[in-house]
Amino acid sequence: MYGFIQKFHSGWAYLALLLLVVAVVNSLVGLAGKKEFTAKDRKIALFGLIGAHTQLLIGLILYFVSPLGMASLGQMADKTLRLTSLEHPLINIIAITLITIGWSKHKKLTASESKFKTFTIFYGLGLVLILSRIPWSMWL
Ligand code: HEM
Repeated sequence: MYGFIQKFHSGWAYLALLLLVVAVVNSLVGLAGKKEFTAKDRKIALFGLIGAHTQLLIGLILYFVSPLGMASLGQMADKTLRLTSLEHPLINIIAITLITIGWSKHKKLTASESKFKTFTIFYGLGLVLILSRIPWSMWL
């Protein structure tokens, strides 16, 4: 069980990050080019949201089965364990909450510029937070 979930979380991370990067770049291009927000832009943002939510679900399961998750909570002197048991989960939950708020907010907006701006800010901030707390040395 642990091995499978760990590999799934490790592999899905590539897709989740790629979809988020594409969504942020697309909203930046739309904003800078003063483009009209179309169904294609909505789909790109939706895929970013789904990718992140799927990673969140796998991460939550992993947290309870991994020796580096909840089981290591409290070992704050060890940098790696502090990252995997506290910083990475906490910051990622905050990041995905921001991404979800961005998605909800865009639905209430009508102007294309406001929609692109909302995705740029909320998805962009979420992406930066996620990248700041990836256990890079374990992953790559
Ligand atoms: C978009 C959000 C997230 C991304 C991109 C992500 C990505 C990653 C990556 C790349 C690793 C290293 C995998 C490896 O060693 O091969 C990792 C490990 C880990 N993640 Fe996440 N993660 C996310 C969210 C979460 C969340 C929300 C939780 C828990 C609530 C979580 C819990 C963990 C744990 C416990 C580990 C260590 C697993 C182990 O090696 O035993 N992750 N994550």
